[in-house]
Amino acid sequence: MTVVTVAFIVLTTIPLCVSEDVVVTTKNGELRGRRVSTGQTSYLDTFLGIPFAAPPVGPLRFKAPQPPASWTGTRDSTRFSAMCPQLAGGNKTLDLPISEDCLYLNIYSPNAQTNDSLLPVMFWIHGGFYIVGSGASFNGTALTSRGVVVVTINYRLGALGFLSTLDAASPGNNGLLDQILALKWVKDNIALFHGDPNDVTIFGQSAGSGSVSLLRLSPLAQGLFSKAIMESGVSLSHWAVARPGKEILSPLQYAQRLGTAVGCGSAVNQSNAALVDCLRNMTVERILNGTNTVYIPNSQGVPAFNPTVETVVGVIPEDPRILLTRGSGSNVTSIRGINSKESAGVFLEQPLSYFTLPNVEAEIAQFTKIHFFRDNPVTVANKIVAQYITSQHLTTAKQYREALIQINTDFTFTVPTILEQQHTAMIPGHAPQYLYQFSYRASHDPSPSWAGAMHSSELPFVFGAPFMRDRFSDQYNHFNWTSEDSDVSGNMMTLWTSFAKDRNPSPHRVVGGIWAPYSLDSQDYLDIGSSLTITTNLATDRVKFWKSILDKAQVLIG
Ligand SMILES: *[C@@H]1O[C@H](CO)[C@@H](O)[C@H](O)[C@H]1NC(C)=O
Ligand SMILES: *[C@@H]1O[C@H](CO)[C@@H](O)[C@H](O)[C@H]1NC(C)=O
Ligand SMILES: *[C@@H]1O[C@H](CO)[C@@H](O)[C@H](O)[C@H]1NC(C)=O
Ligand SMILES: *[C@@H]1O[C@H](CO)[C@@H](O)[C@H](O)[C@H]1NC(C)=O
Ligand SMILES: *[C@@H]1O[C@H](CO)[C@@H](O)[C@H](O)[C@H]1NC(C)=O
Ligand SMILES: *[C@@H]1O[C@H](CO)[C@@H](O)[C@H](O)[C@H]1NC(C)=O
Ligand SMILES: *[C@@H]1O[C@H](CO)[C@@H](O)[C@H](O)[C@H]1NC(C)=O
Ligand SMILES: *[C@@H]1O[C@H](CO)[C@@H](O)[C@H](O)[C@H]1NC(C)=O
Repeated sequence: MTVVTVAFIVLTTIPLCVSEDVVVTTKNGELRGRRVSTGQTSYLDTFLGIPFAAPPVGPLRFKAPQPPASWTGTRDSTRFSAMCPQLAGGNKTLDLPISEDCLYLNIYSPNAQTNDSLLPVMFWIHGGFYIVGSGASFNGTALTSRGVVVVTINYRLGALGFLSTLDAASPGNNGLLDQILALKWVKDNIALFHGDPNDVTIFGQSAGSGSVSLLRLSPLAQGLFSKAIMESGVSLSHWAVARPGKEILSPLQYAQRLGTAVGCGSAVNQSNAALVDCLRNMTVERILNGTNTVYIPNSQGVPAFNPTVETVVGVIPEDPRILLTRGSGSNVTSIRGINSKESAGVFLEQPLSYFTLPNVEAEIAQFTKIHFFRDNPVTVANKIVAQYITSQHLTTAKQYREALIQINTDFTFTVPTILEQQHTAMIPGHAPQYLYQFSYRASHDPSPSWAGAMHSSELPFVFGAPFMRDRFSDQYNHFNWTSEDSDVSGNMMTLWTSFAKDRNPSPHRVVGGIWAPYSLDSQDYLDIGSSLTITTNLATDRVKFWKSILDKAQVLIG
């Protein structure tokens, strides 16, 4: 009796085929991945921690990534690689170490070994302000079940990825070059995993979305992808890329401050080459620690080390606004979008009583002092108060809080996104550009309900977290997803994967209508809430207001 019971338990709780090895031979050598069952008869193949570049260590630090070495024998691809070096906290939710040897990618394929026709590839670039994050935080399993191959990558972060002396010593943009080399690896190898090398959609969020937008503009990334999705970030965002003459501190000055902070002061005085040599000789811990000290107060809300306009390598050879208006870069069908309350997180810690008129005016004054320091911050502040407060006849603390969230969200996300959308849509014959707003709030989101759809809140829906209860990343494990959450996630995955397959997010009226491309005349966009709504004119008046200010300002956006 006991024996029978044990056998019964074993049979009903463990799928017959838990996992088995799958071996693929790439240009560099053999990889052993894992076939994981996802149901009674369904499975997927995962290959984790595949090197797409030589480890960027020793003499290769601060250099463009080099191709990976080949290996003999079979390389284990059943575990994620280390995350790229990042300040404490970056690897808290993932049980992964950090290491400079971090240029690896991960593949989720419905079936690496079928002879059926190749599937579209979705290539994910994670966010994290160009200083934190990892491809391992994003599980491609649910997207894969919709007939695409998902690739997630790591790229160098912070000073190691983006330090620039604006000359040959360290031109910068190594993190973007890592992304480009990973795309080249995909071009050369993804067919072996049943992905179509000529049908790659790049998608990303926040700094990953800024990266996608910059890759669209880069002459060095042409031909490596044919579609792009940008979630909450574009090249015109003030934090996305350093633009010469518009910053308080140039990339070179940030590099010099880092040098001084870690004991390379005399090299700073000597030459840029000496500075970079000296930094190359420092431990990673020292560079990370030094990064903490290079920020200055009122630094325009930009990362010290981020992509930069430079002409030595020419990843971003000119100001993105010029590249955009000229129609440079890749003419690819794109989706851009924002969340309705991106910046609510900025005000989460403040009690409601904080939002009085004097405090709100002080917040706006401080905001313009940071961003409009070369102009007349007081005049700009007065205009913002008139537009968002006075003319709206606001009186309550809740209304003032909403206004502050709106101002911050507009400046940081909405306005640059719509301006980039408009610049692109204005180019005659350009490939279609879609626009969305995500406004849904997870049913059991622990943040206060006024916070709405904050920055990053679309991520679990894009990756189908409600369909992967056991693991998305630790951050979402405790969410009790509802059937409404599952519906929203299902909608988003349908839109995103339809776009990857057909260049059209709603080819079959999946949303009860057609989500038409954005044009200056109709200004169509899709609102992604508990249901999908096709509507028009996202923030049109507010964009007009900001345009009138930005056109005259020496500011980093627009
Ligand atoms: C994070 O990385 C550091 C450095 O590699 C390591 O010491 C620490 O154990 C890691 N944390 C976790 C939770 O893995
Ligand atoms: C795919 O095609 C090759 C060559 O025709 C054949 O050897 C192989 O068995 C096929 N694989 C599958 C999974 O059908
Ligand atoms: C670098 O030069 C500055 C200005 O001339 C000087 O103040 C500083 O002491 C020098 N630093 C080192 C480490 O030589
Ligand atoms: C720094 O450079 C010196 C001399 O080239 C070398 O001996 C030393 O090992 C280097 N230190 C590190 C941390 O790379
Ligand atoms: C980290 O930086 C601080 C401030 O510059 C400095 O006092 C400390 O010695 C540094 N620690 C390490 C391990 O480099
Ligand atoms: C851009 O792409 C669209 C289709 O996606 C095409 O019709 C158009 O001719 C292309 N424009 C240029 C300048 O290549
Ligand atoms: C991804 O999620 C699936 C489903 O929850 C889980 O079985 C799998 O282990 C996860 N894969 C990775 C690489 O985290
Ligand atoms: C999820 O549900 C469980 C059991 O009903 C409950 O204990 C837990 O607090 C819920 N978590 C959240 C984040 O709502």
